[in-house]
Amino acid sequence: MKINVITGKIEKIKTDGAVLLLFEDEKPGKTAERVDKALGGTISRLVKRGDFKPKPGAVHVLYPEGRSAAERLVLAGMGKRSEFTLNRLRQAAGKAASSLRTAGAKDIAVVADVPGPGPEELGQALAEGCLLGLYRFLKYKTDEENGRKKNIQSITILTEAAASVNALRKGVKTGEIISDSTMMVRDMVNSPSADMTPTIIAAKARELAREFGLKIQVLERSQMEKLGMGALLGVASGSAQPPKFIILEYRKGGKKPVIALVGKTITFDSGGISIKPAENMDRMKDDMSGGAAVLGALRTASALKLPLNIVGLLPATENMPSGSAYKPGDVLRTLSGRTIEIMNTDAEGRLILSDALAYACRYKPAVIVDIATLTGACGIALGNEASGMLGTDDVLKRKIREAGEKTGERVWELPLWEEYYDQIKSDIADMKNTGGRAGGVITAAALLSKFVQKYPWVHLDIAATSWTEKDRPYTPKGATGIGMRLLTQFLRDYEKE
Ligand code: BES
Ligand code: MN
Ligand code: ZN
Repeated sequence: MKINVITGKIEKIKTDGAVLLLFEDEKPGKTAERVDKALGGTISRLVKRGDFKPKPGAVHVLYPEGRSAAERLVLAGMGKRSEFTLNRLRQAAGKAASSLRTAGAKDIAVVADVPGPGPEELGQALAEGCLLGLYRFLKYKTDEENGRKKNIQSITILTEAAASVNALRKGVKTGEIISDSTMMVRDMVNSPSADMTPTIIAAKARELAREFGLKIQVLERSQMEKLGMGALLGVASGSAQPPKFIILEYRKGGKKPVIALVGKTITFDSGGISIKPAENMDRMKDDMSGGAAVLGALRTASALKLPLNIVGLLPATENMPSGSAYKPGDVLRTLSGRTIEIMNTDAEGRLILSDALAYACRYKPAVIVDIATLTGACGIALGNEASGMLGTDDVLKRKIREAGEKTGERVWELPLWEEYYDQIKSDIADMKNTGGRAGGVITAAALLSKFVQKYPWVHLDIAATSWTEKDRPYTPKGATGIGMRLLTQFLRDYEKE
């Protein structure tokens, strides 16, 4: 979808739907004031009576009936001025755009005169809010009535300040790239596991590599055997789908050390022999969300031409039960040489990551960030509003935390104290793959930490944030695409201070 940035006055622009942003504790801005006048004071009356409260996420559709050029007018609440964030702006834009689509608008115009952020940030946030808010997953809908016809075809971002047009355009361009990558991730995660196998993901990675000039290598089972990736192979042993170990390299950073991104890519997690209950098992197609986020971040990094060296690693396999599947009680020999006793074949994410993290160390990376739908326990600890963060390096954690705040993909730290390691001690191997119910997020991360040597490392547990059961302002029900924007922001800011 094309986003245009133009100068002009909203009252004069012919559009199916105009969007005005209103703060809760502030008189309408200059533009809104003029529109209000043109409407004979409708907006101020609505607000004064309390029929419309400009709270975050609130929207109200008005019909100017010829008193202003727009067919429809959406008032979008921004909350309190003092609490302004770019995320609120994305939320308001997302809500406004999707409610205009529901109303039947084909083109929309958003007024971009919000004091506070610079025009570039503003353009990016508005583009992201609109595009991500309008996202739908229609690949498997054949019923035309199901909304395909009802779609917004163009978005105009409108400013009265001619001087800010170029910066707005630049921000919009960035927002479009980031949104495209996020939607790619959402599409991959929403897709049924039968159509998102390790082989299909490898093909998708090859396609991206070709399009964006990345170096790619895909290790097949025989190569994994030669290298000794016993953990990934163990998890893959029950599946009819061949595993793939996908290595993507983006090198635009000269001699700088690489940033290693590792994404859990379980294309379906049945639990294996320790099989999961039937209820909600369909959700386990999203167990490749980490890998998809890493793919998306590499796509974005190269589209934005970031001056960095980045390697993305995706250990990809299904976790299935069968006669050849790995079993509780087995001991797997990982790429690092360390052994892991299997207590539960459903704790497979940490196993494939142990091989991938060990592989990442071969690059002598500046930092390692892994991202994984790793534990149900993470949702118990933090709910659905934050991803879990654990790691070994304070600077890296701060950077990730800040990227989370900026993007609205927030993280919250859990401790990784020595005492927790007792829980994963094994009687017969170097460690075991579960540590009991207590502190499940932490003991999973504790296992991972054994495979990152001395490299600064952060682990992100996105098990409870990669999917949403409810519509959110710019994230409809289903795959959220989480991690893509977080990692991208981290990369964009990586060299700042
Ligand atoms: N992929 C799951 C984690 C998960 C659970 C993601 C729910 C999204 C929603 C992971 O592989 C898993 O099964 N973890 C187990 C670990 C346990 C056996 C120690 C879990 O969380 O129950
Ligand atoms: Mn599992
Ligand atoms: Zn899993």
